[in-house]
Amino acid sequence: MTDKILVTYATMTGSTRGVAEAIGKTLAELGANVDIVPMKDVKEISDYKAVIAGSAIQAQKWLPEAMDFMRTNKSVLNQKPFAVFLVCMTLAMTKGNNYREAVSGWLTPVREIAVPISEGLFTGILDIKKIPSFNDRLKFRISMLTGVWKEGDHRDWEAIRNWAINLKSQLN
Ligand SMILES: Cc1cc2nc3c(=O)[nH]c(=O)nc-3n(C[C@H](O)[C@H](O)[C@H](O)COP(=O)(O)O)c2cc1C
Repeated sequence: MTDKILVTYATMTGSTRGVAEAIGKTLAELGANVDIVPMKDVKEISDYKAVIAGSAIQAQKWLPEAMDFMRTNKSVLNQKPFAVFLVCMTLAMTKGNNYREAVSGWLTPVREIAVPISEGLFTGILDIKKIPSFNDRLKFRISMLTGVWKEGDHRDWEAIRNWAINLKSQLN
């Protein structure tokens, strides 16, 4: 086994890649040896000393490719330090700020496959022109007009960095 940490991510419109890169950069600044790889390109994880896996949320779930990654690598993930994160818009809702518990619940299917040592819940980006489906674009436009959330980049780089710093101390 190497001393490398794998940060792997599943994204549809790109914002989760930026979160994964920020996590990887922070870990590297703290002295870790890090690979940042899209989940679809991951082949073998047994050589890594730890794995950090994250996905964008759609319909209150990790993306299907991320759940496939969990099922494919279940036995290895249960044998090494494993942390997860998600990227979503609910935590950026303009009204109310008490959704962390509900959002955390979206990780239940992930926890049933392998129990993480840490879970990062992060705000993402709403960029309507990047959403492929007309119906989904319409739903998001309506939710913007009704004031549910605002379009734009809501990623909280400080929260992401702090989570990664805390995680690094757990991986030593
Ligand atoms: C079709 C679709 C469904 C989504 N469903 C949810 C959802 O159920 N809950 C949520 O909080 N955010 C939801 N979002 C927002 C995304 O999680 C958010 O835009 C995220 O930053 C996307 O990450 P990505 O750019 O890596 O794909 C959805 C976005 C899309 C396009």
